[in-house]
Parts: sequence; C-alpha cells; structure tokens
Amino acid sequence: MTVETLRWRNGQLEMIDQRCLPAVIQYLSYSDAQSVADAIRQMVVRGAPAIGVAAAYGVALEAQKFMSLDKVSFDKRLADALGALSGSRPTAVNLFWALDRMRGQLLEAIKKEPAEIAQVLLQEAHAIYNEDIDINKTLGAFGASIIDDGTCVLTHCNAGALATAGHGTALGVVRSAVTAGKKITVFADETRPFMQGARLTAWELSEDGIDTTLITDNMAGHFMKSGDIDVVIVGTDRVAANGDVANKIGTYMVAVLAKEHDIPFYVACPLSTIDLSIATGEDIPIEERSADEVTGYGGVRWAPENIKVRNPAFDVTPARFVTGLITEKGIIYAPNEEKLKALF
Ligand code: MRU
Repeated sequence: MTVETLRWRNGQLEMIDQRCLPAVIQYLSYSDAQSVADAIRQMVVRGAPAIGVAAAYGVALEAQKFMSLDKVSFDKRLADALGALSGSRPTAVNLFWALDRMRGQLLEAIKKEPAEIAQVLLQEAHAIYNEDIDINKTLGAFGASIIDDGTCVLTHCNAGALATAGHGTALGVVRSAVTAGKKITVFADETRPFMQGARLTAWELSEDGIDTTLITDNMAGHFMKSGDIDVVIVGTDRVAANGDVANKIGTYMVAVLAKEHDIPFYVACPLSTIDLSIATGEDIPIEERSADEVTGYGGVRWAPENIKVRNPAFDVTPARFVTGLITEKGIIYAPNEEKLKALF
C-alpha cells in the first residue's frame, strides 16, 4: 500500500484530502494548529488514530511557527493550539490521548527555550506517527491469526490505512492475513451518510488488490442470512471501561445482526482508543454533524427543504455484542472492566 495519509515534508504537514477520494488524489499542506484543527473538523483527515496523529503534528507546527516569540507569548500560543485542536471533534479519544502526550512533553520541557521545545514536540509527533504504524501491524498479526483462509470479512466505515498513519486497524487485520498468504474477501458497507466505506475502504482495498464487494448498509442483514459473511471486523473511536464500543453510525445495527446470525463481531482497537475514565458507552460524547450530510451529497440535494434531520456520526455497541477486541497486546474476548483494566 503506497497511500500516505499524512506525511511530514519540508517542515510542513501534508494530508491527503479524504473528502475528494477516490475521484481526486491531492495533498493539502498545513503549517499551524488552527488549520489542522479545521482540517480535522472538515474531514480532510478522519479516523480515530489519524486524527490523533494530525493533532500531534498540529501542536508541533504551532511550536515551529512561533519559536522566535518571547517565552510568554510562545507558551500562550501553545496553550491556545491545544485548546483549538481538542475542540475539533469530540468522539475519538485518540485525539485527546495524542494531545495529552504532547502536553506531557511540553510540561517536561517547559523550562527550555522555545526552539528547543519545538524540537521536542516535533520528535514526539514523529514518535506518535511511527508507533501507530507499528501498533497496527502488531494488532493486525494478532487478528490475522484467528482468520481462516477463505474468510469473508464484513467491515463498516473505514478503519484502514486512511484512518491511521498506515496499515489500518480493522483493515490492518485483513492486510496482515493477506500478507500471511490467506485468501480473504471483504464486503464493505458504503456507510451512509459520509460514504467512508464506498469512497475510502473500497478504494484502498482495491488499490491493494484485495477482493472487495461494496454493498449498501441495508444489505448487511441479507448477506449475513445468506451465509456470505464469516466475520465482522470494525474499528472504534472510543471504548469505555466496561467494553462498550463507539464507532461509526450503523455499527450497532451490524453488531445486533451479527449476533442474530451467530457471526463473530470483532473490534480492532489500539490501546490508545480505550478510555478507562469513562465507565460505560452511555457517557461517550457522540458528535452530531451537519444536516447537509443527510439531505444530499456532493452538492446534490434530494430531501425536501425544511425537513427535520438528525445526524449522529457515531453509535455505541454494548460490550455484550463484542466477540473480542483485537489489540496490540492480543485479543480480549468478551471485554469487560476487569479485562480492560488489566491491559494497562
Ligand atoms: O467520522 P470518521 O470517518 O472519523 O469515523 C471513523 C470511524 O468511525 C472509524 O471506524 C474509527 O475511527 C476507527 S479508525 C481506525
């Protein structure tokens, strides 16, 4: 897979514009925190781990840009940058996890000069980027070990290379299984309303030559009933301490259907996505996005003017529907509070 979701080039962050994929492949350049926060909000970059990595670079960019300011002004700039980035999207905990790491480095280096602090912050952003790829490869190998040759995987949304620094989480499991020599086929839900499945998952898997079939979200039950699907693997934006899983809207529906049809439902989940500070999924903040995403797409409107719209971007799947969390520390079957606490 050659697609680079984010890359550091000539002192700037470049991100592939995921709003235009797969029709247009273009990279946009960023040189400060506010523009990165805007890119996260507008979905230039999306997917929990990728948002975290982008935010880390946002802090590093701000430090680079303002390192010649006096110390008081520099510190204020960085505090504002952390605030702007943390306000960009509410559900994916990786954003806050990455910003906490950046804040930790900043506090440790607080007595140093701005130029030195900027260097420390850039190194930390690079570390978060590199670790993300390593983690995805590790959890991918764990996941691949439980997938048989000839398996058909159903996935929802995009938890692929495009949602991470590389390799992917749910699609990382697929990639690792394919690399291990297994013949894996994928059914990709299109994922209304933002079409991450149709535009992103279908594209990145096809680019890799992985046998992929695109279906609309309301076909998942039909294909489970007809025996076409062997396993469901999705990503996640935040897992509560009791194992409840927030992921792209529609995931809950898929999990309930999987249980009815005795199909295992796995969640690929780096530890940075587990939020032990939140007791249950009820407490996970669910982003509500613009009505425009539901009333039409790409400038075409199909719904009547003034119709009432709801557009929650995520839903919560209770832990009882989860066969296992695939993490970089192994597979946590029937996740619960005790098992999740033991991971840390
Ligand atoms: O709104 P998005 O596209 O950011 O939502 C992405 C998802 O829901 C993914 O499944 C999740 O972030 C996991 S990505 C490894």
